[in-house]
Amino acid sequence: MRLTIDGHPVEGPPGSTILEAARSVGVPIPTVCYHETLEPIGACRVCVVEVEGARTLVPACQRRVEEGMVVRTDTERVRANRRMVVELLESSADTRLAPEIGRLASELGADPGRWASLQHEKPLPARGPKLDNELYVREPDRCILCYRCVKACGEQVQNTFAIAVAGRGYEARIDPGFDLPLPDSACVFCGNCVAVCPTEALTFRTQWEMRRDGAWDESRQRTVTTVCPYCGVGCQLQLTVQDNRIVKVTAPVDDPTTRGYLCIKGRFGWQYVHAGLQTAPEALPKAQTDARRTA
Ligand code: SF4
Ligand code: SF4
Ligand code: FES
Repeated sequence: MRLTIDGHPVEGPPGSTILEAARSVGVPIPTVCYHETLEPIGACRVCVVEVEGARTLVPACQRRVEEGMVVRTDTERVRANRRMVVELLESSADTRLAPEIGRLASELGADPGRWASLQHEKPLPARGPKLDNELYVREPDRCILCYRCVKACGEQVQNTFAIAVAGRGYEARIDPGFDLPLPDSACVFCGNCVAVCPTEALTFRTQWEMRRDGAWDESRQRTVTTVCPYCGVGCQLQLTVQDNRIVKVTAPVDDPTTRGYLCIKGRFGWQYVHAGLQTAPEALPKAQTDARRTA
């Protein structure tokens, strides 16, 4: 399919998206709900572009390329729409731990305060963090409802279907059903929802506790790549290490074996590495000290 994006002639295979075609020629289009390992979700509308002849803006992450298409990615209409979307995201959730949204907001000159009067008419209920297990924390106040976690938990990765969107409008939230604690739900604690969350609405308990205690310091962290020792699949792991201690485990999304997804053992079963170290329990995040006490 031959098309034009911002004046650049592009050739994209049938079935590819405008986003993929644009990236192939180095034209940047911002995204929030899009994740390279998931089918396009189309929830956020940050990636909208103009297509000549189309009445409305279209989401570049979902719209397939067509022969002769003329696409513009950076017009005033596009920027105004993106700006409003980012303002709505920032005014409805705490996005301070979502650097990509913050970067977009300053680039677009977003002013979430424009929507303050709406919040006044319908104040958002503060929900607070949910600390119902030792492995990860849910903070609904940070959730932008991008649906990535639901897709990763469901048919696209884990096939567990433990979480879904409950409620509508301002009441919409990610929930395991009936507001159950996670240990009482179908969750298998693979942490794959955490891996795709862009805002830390889902976050590793160690990371959450260290942030709370002012101990999370990315300038003191390094990444160590290794292989999971638990089974023969041999998933590649990326250990985030701070002060010579593992503080979280992720997997590289470009690894064809895992695509960034792990099971509970690879993701969370790392405390044994520190079992012989003589660190005073009070110097460790709570999740690690609890694990040591029960070991
Ligand atoms: S919890 Fe995270 S991944 Fe799930 S919908 Fe909210 S922001 Fe998206
Ligand atoms: S993460 Fe799970 S599946 Fe992968 S090697 Fe470790 S134990 Fe096996
Ligand atoms: S990135 Fe395309 S709709 Fe969210």
